Amino acid sequence: MKYLFVLLFAGISAGAQVQKEQLNLMPWPQNVVINDGNFNLNKNFKVNITGNPNPRIFGGVTRFLRRLDGRTGIFFEQGFIEKLNEVPNAELQINCTKSGKIGLYEDESYHLDIASNKITLNASSDLGALHGLETLLQMLQNNSKSFYFPVSKISDFPRFTWRGLMMDVSRHFQPIDVVKRNIDALAAMKMNVFHWHLVDDQGWRIEMKKHPKFTQLASDGMYYTQEEIKNIVKYADERGILIVPEIDVPGHGSAILTAYPEIGSKVITLTGGTSEKNIQGTAIATYGIERNAGIFSPTLDPSNPKTYQLLSEVFDEVCPLFSGAYFHIGGDENEGKDWDANPKIQEFKKKHNLKTNHELQTYFTMQLAPMLKKHGKQLMGWEEILTKDLSKEAIVHSWRGPNEGMPAGQSLVDAVKKGYKTVLSNGYYIDLMYPIASHYLNDPMPKGANLTNDEKARILGGEATMWTELATPTTIDSRIWPRTAAIAERLWSAEDVVDVENMRKRLENISFRLEELGITHIRNKDVILRNIANNQDIKSLEEFSNVSEPLKGYTRNKGGTEYQMYSPFTLFADACGPDAKDALAFDAAVSQYLANKSADNKAKVVAFFTKWIAVHKGLTELSNNAPLVQPILPLSKKLNDASQELLLVLDNKSTLAPADLKKLIEQCNTKDHADVELSVYESLKKLI
Ligand code: ACM
Repeated sequence: MKYLFVLLFAGISAGAQVQKEQLNLMPWPQNVVINDGNFNLNKNFKVNITGNPNPRIFGGVTRFLRRLDGRTGIFFEQGFIEKLNEVPNAELQINCTKSGKIGLYEDESYHLDIASNKITLNASSDLGALHGLETLLQMLQNNSKSFYFPVSKISDFPRFTWRGLMMDVSRHFQPIDVVKRNIDALAAMKMNVFHWHLVDDQGWRIEMKKHPKFTQLASDGMYYTQEEIKNIVKYADERGILIVPEIDVPGHGSAILTAYPEIGSKVITLTGGTSEKNIQGTAIATYGIERNAGIFSPTLDPSNPKTYQLLSEVFDEVCPLFSGAYFHIGGDENEGKDWDANPKIQEFKKKHNLKTNHELQTYFTMQLAPMLKKHGKQLMGWEEILTKDLSKEAIVHSWRGPNEGMPAGQSLVDAVKKGYKTVLSNGYYIDLMYPIASHYLNDPMPKGANLTNDEKARILGGEATMWTELATPTTIDSRIWPRTAAIAERLWSAEDVVDVENMRKRLENISFRLEELGITHIRNKDVILRNIANNQDIKSLEEFSNVSEPLKGYTRNKGGTEYQMYSPFTLFADACGPDAKDALAFDAAVSQYLANKSADNKAKVVAFFTKWIAVHKGLTELSNNAPLVQPILPLSKKLNDASQELLLVLDNKSTLAPADLKKLIEQCNTKDHADVELSVYESLKKLI
């Protein structure tokens, strides 16, 4: 009798049976089966680890317990897990057959079996087990009083072996805590590569002991010490993440040449009309750290032995800081202007039978390969490194697309057909503020390309790219997340997991949980808005940000000179993101109303207009003591004016001629104010 009571009580406390559709898992696992019943959490919940895992599992499990503690407030008795088989009768049993190796092609699969009294997590390596723990955290459910896991079985493995994020720390330097919290978030999304873009025109970010001029002259004092880099590599390793460093050469060379102008390609004309070349040592050009955004001409001299000597010494210092097997040498956007203008380089081309600058660049690239190989590193570069003489060992990073006047994904197909391994970034440029669906539906495996199985196997995966011309430590998380979670799903989950609405629903939860790891994508919006509001109430700014999106593509910062690399980005556009919250909701309300003009459906549309009229009034009042609000007012007025008239239209009371109404709506289609656009314009148009 007593037993029956306990069972009934447990059943009630666990709440209704969880359905698969309710789970907020991301990336969605390969296989999920839900069964009846729940595993209820309490203070005695303990974890035991067996097998032969890498010791990184101990920290991983300890962090898992603390995150579960944080979510549930239970505060488990078990503290730090330090060795195998500490608690043989623990409720969560983790077994790993072997120590996981950080890098490509490792077995990252796991099997999670949640029974009502026991949870088993089996994985071939600790890397799989870490993924399984992330899934288990995402499986957490609650009723009004308690937390539980639904009885279920999940077996899971990644679709692609390269699931990365690139972070540019040259344009706007990103301190260590930014890097670390994003590595945590990558691990939470089962991603496994952090590509660290450390050198570009706008700064050199690595301490160099033998060549201190790099940081003395070309970093503005913002760089990582070698100890800090080693610490981050270890931090990433403990979370199953491979770090791929990038030093971008031979183009994007302003910072390098600011420190070492003697290896530059520029020919300078001395006053008096004589033309001198830097190789003669008589007239070395000077360079400066670039402050603007764009493509610039400073380029390393591929004909100068000193170039290779310096790079070799750089790699000798930098390679040992990184434990991974890959090194990215950039290679993008070298326009060759300074090469064309340098007679010595032209002679060099002739002598080596190099017909084009592209061939000359491959000559340069192939000099670097053995310097890296010496340290066990394989060379990777942006797609421009690909010419007929490039070694098949090089990995080609596909990035150009329609924005660069190229068909999307063409270089990826070219590369695999020619026998190169490749990683896709075209379509994953998260800095460009495109909507999440565009990234989510961008698959590394090209449709209709007719690839053989070997060619398909050479598509390693993909990488979100976070360039930081327009992002600071305050805003970078909101540019990376939550969209990178959708990219993570594309790279991990089955090819047919493509339901955007379902992804959006799950992401609501996944996005909020990233805060637990210190990701600031949600909270920093208020930080920026408070600065704009001059510490007044931010409500109307917040509401207006829900219909405003930063300008997309390369339309913000026209010409690359409106803002500089030291610009803090504390403007309204920086508080806004793609996929503005109210845009979808408004569009749905408009569609419903147009399909059925019921009073209820009309009221939903009216509520938006009423809100936007109030928002404009609120912003106007705010602006009395907040100069930073002023640039937004012309835009909020346009939405206000359209809203007022459309309210009349809905009530059949508008006296405006159709052409004038159209004009009023068209005013909302503008990119002229505060670097943002109104995300509701297309939906407004549907109403006339
Ligand atoms: C690139 O975006 N220049 C690789």
